[in-house]
Amino acid sequence: MSFDPWELLARIRPDVVNDLRRWQGVVGRQLSPRERVLVRVALAAQSRSVPLLESALDEAAAYEIEPDALLDAVLCAGPIAGMASVLDAVEVIHRRHPELVPDDTSEETPLVVFSPSPPEIPPTDDLPAPPAVRSLELLVEEVPETGAKVIELSGRRVAVFRAEERFYAVDDVCPHQDRPLADGQVEDGHLVCPWHGWRFDLGTGQCDLSPGEDLVIHRAEVRGDRLLVSLADSAEAE
Ligand code: FES
Repeated sequence: MSFDPWELLARIRPDVVNDLRRWQGVVGRQLSPRERVLVRVALAAQSRSVPLLESALDEAAAYEIEPDALLDAVLCAGPIAGMASVLDAVEVIHRRHPELVPDDTSEETPLVVFSPSPPEIPPTDDLPAPPAVRSLELLVEEVPETGAKVIELSGRRVAVFRAEERFYAVDDVCPHQDRPLADGQVEDGHLVCPWHGWRFDLGTGQCDLSPGEDLVIHRAEVRGDRLLVSLADSAEAE
């Protein structure tokens, strides 16, 4: 099995790694799903963890992100991660996208050493809407012991919790005042909202305090070292 530096850090410095991941989740909420996946690719390249990069590339594939954009993401990591990390990541990306090597190598591409003006970045409004993705595979280790891993599926924020080696996926929106639930506590099969203490049954979504104002529960299925999170059939894309 290949050495995974993230796994090592997660084992010997779990608090720091969990805080870092939660911080990334919080700041990531401001980004579009496509931007978030590309940031994840860049961070995985920076970490030099092949399993993390593979997982980020799975997400990118779900969003049909083109290989050129993946290369740009890992190049963005270059100034901090160093070229060795970038080259490792390019190798992993190339294994998935062998078409990145042009068929005709007879024409030499001129080497550009200086660009007088920065490239234009298209306004985000021009980007096509991301495809609806109703399920996503995570590494089990990505779900922290405390707090939640927040992901986005079909425009819905989904908070994934772990408690006593069971996993739960719920809408990251409290039915009481639409506040995030990611900082909630799991107790006895219930999720307690951190804002005003409403409790939701993690099997049915029922609220103890206000019957009828129930939480949407999604599916979380462990497959070896991966966790498949899928939107509930009743959940509409947003
Ligand atoms: S916002 Fe969750 S209980 Fe009030």
